[in-house]
Amino acid sequence: MDTKVNYLGLELKSPIVAGSCGITSNVDNLVRLEECGAGAVVLKSIFEEQIIHDIKRNTQTFAPVDNYGESYDYIAQHIENDSMSKFFNMVAEAKRRLTIPVIGSVNCYSYDSWISYASRFEEAGCDAIELNMAILPYDVSLSVDDVERTFSNTVQALRKSVSIPISIKVGPYFTDMAKFMQQLSWSGVAGITMFNKSLCIDIDTEREELGHADSLSSPNELYNTVRWTAIMANKLRCDLSATTGVSDADDVVKLLLAGAKTVQVASCLYRNGVDYMKDLNEGLRAWMEKKGYASVKQFCGKLAMKQNEQASVLLRTQFMRYFAEIQ
Ligand SMILES: Cc1cc2nc3c(=O)[nH]c(=O)nc-3n(C[C@H](O)[C@H](O)[C@H](O)COP(=O)(O)O)c2cc1C
Repeated sequence: MDTKVNYLGLELKSPIVAGSCGITSNVDNLVRLEECGAGAVVLKSIFEEQIIHDIKRNTQTFAPVDNYGESYDYIAQHIENDSMSKFFNMVAEAKRRLTIPVIGSVNCYSYDSWISYASRFEEAGCDAIELNMAILPYDVSLSVDDVERTFSNTVQALRKSVSIPISIKVGPYFTDMAKFMQQLSWSGVAGITMFNKSLCIDIDTEREELGHADSLSSPNELYNTVRWTAIMANKLRCDLSATTGVSDADDVVKLLLAGAKTVQVASCLYRNGVDYMKDLNEGLRAWMEKKGYASVKQFCGKLAMKQNEQASVLLRTQFMRYFAEIQ
């Protein structure tokens, strides 16, 4: 049975990828993920503030701290000075011990001097780089244009800085989601990953304090990923990797049918252990066998919306059908 897929121009033996998270910061885990059939691994992100800190430490010519405010102070206090060299040693070790593609990851939110540093991912041997662009629309002074310009400036600068494939991980909060995702796919990126997770804020009613909720996804979060994967898969000029809400192999199949080239998982590995990657791959193969598919290509995108199909009309019809029938 052929579970190979081509993703970001790389050949993967499975479409199931270990998404960026704490688990992927440890090389022994990465090796085990490969043994359990992962198609690729996305390393735990480094923050752009970490990079800026490293640039500052090494050059002593750092000026624009304004961009970062308290987050930079936090990072500067808590990061060990040699954390970046440790990180790149880890990448080199991962490359020595793994045969599957290793994708580096940066969590960023601004267009800044950190971008030129991204070439170090390429030098360390990463096969691709995923940018988790964690720009949330919190700021009342930021317009849609400002946010979108940050994306396009960052992508253009990064393309000049590295020659490995670039994928952009986006959140679900865009005013003009479909249009912007399509434009992003025209900007020379090799992939778009939908969706990153922002910290879930919660309130402690006893202490009357803000805090954070469980960071693992709940199964219900899958539906939004399925919806947007099906809407966008045929409208992008790059690969689509789907993530958020995958609990089991059946969820992987749903996202592949919806048109994802790869499916990234994190929460289910935390819940069930790293070896759960094996269950996901076995479940995918069992489903393919039951359905008589010899390769992933035969069913990938089978349920994606057609290029000229109007998502609004189709989803409106589904919506009316469903709610009209409910008593
Ligand atoms: C504990 C934890 C740490 C994560 N750290 C990162 C990270 O450093 N960079 C990143 O791009 N995504 C990070 N993520 C997000 C995951 O890569 C993934 O996109 C998200 O959790 C949705 O997938 P899931 O539903 O399978 O968890 C993290 C997720 C978890 C649960």
